[in-house]
Amino acid sequence: MKLFDPHGFGSSVVSYAGLLEKIEILRSTLRWAPRLERAEIEKLLNQSNALRDEVMQLSRKERFVEAAADTHDSHDAPDAEDKPEALTPSAHRRREALIERSFIFEGIFGDNPKLLAALEIAEKAAPTDLPVLIDGESGTGKELMAKVIHANGARSERPYISVNCGAIPDNLLESELFGHRRGAFTGASSDRKGKFESAHTGTIFLDEIGELPLQGQVKLLRVLESHEIQRVGSDEPIAVDTRIVAATNRNLRELAAQGQFREDLFYRLSVIHVTLPALRERRDEIPLLIAYFGDEAAGQLKRRPVKLTPKLRDFLLTYAYPGNIRELRNLVYRLSCLAGDTADIEHLPDDIRPGPAAAALRLVESEMSGAPLSLSDAKRAASDEAERAFLERGLQETGGTVAELARRCDMNRSHLQMLLKKHGIRSKDFRHAEKPDREKES
Ligand SMILES: Nc1ncnc2c1ncn2[C@@H]1O[C@H](COP(=O)(O)OP(=O)(O)OP(=O)(O)O)[C@@H](O)[C@H]1O
Ligand SMILES: [Mg+2]
Repeated sequence: MKLFDPHGFGSSVVSYAGLLEKIEILRSTLRWAPRLERAEIEKLLNQSNALRDEVMQLSRKERFVEAAADTHDSHDAPDAEDKPEALTPSAHRRREALIERSFIFEGIFGDNPKLLAALEIAEKAAPTDLPVLIDGESGTGKELMAKVIHANGARSERPYISVNCGAIPDNLLESELFGHRRGAFTGASSDRKGKFESAHTGTIFLDEIGELPLQGQVKLLRVLESHEIQRVGSDEPIAVDTRIVAATNRNLRELAAQGQFREDLFYRLSVIHVTLPALRERRDEIPLLIAYFGDEAAGQLKRRPVKLTPKLRDFLLTYAYPGNIRELRNLVYRLSCLAGDTADIEHLPDDIRPGPAAAALRLVESEMSGAPLSLSDAKRAASDEAERAFLERGLQETGGTVAELARRCDMNRSHLQMLLKKHGIRSKDFRHAEKPDREKES
């Protein structure tokens, strides 16, 4: 069976995305093929998996090596407008445009529209001195984004000082941020500069700003207003010129409403507000991220990129990633380190490895966020979880076509729509950029 015609897709960067998509369609079609023997299906699936791995490697290299080279030789770069529309997804164009403007990504990978929107805001904010607040769940790349803002700004050659506001004991906070005079308190044996002074003319990154105690918030606000600090134990004001970038995985608006974060400080910090998407909002990029980190890990571990069994790949494509990209990256590094040529489910950490015990554990963690479970709650949650996984899987396989999924499951379409609504699943999130030529839902 001929899987695809490589000459039919051209050789541009974007053609890999088109190819990947066709392979995905082929894989899902094979799964549902009624007349093939199981062994034949397995064989074809393996072939298409191998092909997909190869394409992803090429795609990743093209996007990040040749695209960078194009930046330096942009007159040779093919004009995006000349490419057929299907081969030039707008997300790709947006990234290309950033590259052409010599934007520094600091390793931020991905073409997800929300991520690109955040990068475009960062690009505009970077050359200004306006404060930027970055929020997003843990592991979504907030620290990377802070570096992006510094690296693309006028202060990029000046100091970049990072402070983890959640990690400083309350009694040391002021001295850490603003420094102290010798003898200001027990243990202050010499004069010491604080982080603000160290960041003078550069950028200070206030990480985990939501953890800053109220007293520290008042002091920070004063510095933001006056652009001056005072070392602990000194009356002498010292002028500081620092650009502020803050980050949090908490909802500062909510904290402010609860009286735990000063509203005036929130508004001062969030003149520019960037929110990074969770990995579950950019699931379509998981295959590319796996390939990207697989390459990266192979480089670091000085080995060939690890291959994945179909079962493990399926797991990685559907797992919830509460720790977002950091968790995905760590998983890929772990697999690359522990597996030989090919990694399988057994190389996953115990607590996420699929199996009854792990599933129960995940339920307790993700569904009930630590609250005690009754048996019936646990059963309901397990059934919901299975339902959700089934729906997501089905939509993945049908490229987000609800009508097709309803047909395959022999289910009433409106009932299926209702179930999707119940789980907050949007079929369009599973649609391919280039629509397959088949039945479309209304
Ligand atoms: N878009 C991305 N592309 C490539 N790597 C990423 C991306 N986002 C995050 N990472 C990687 O994920 C890890 C976590 O990123 P980072 O430390 O910036 O997250 P964070 O949002 O600050 O997390 P936390 O809230 O836990 O501090 C890092 O190893 C980083 O390299
Ligand atoms: Mg961080």
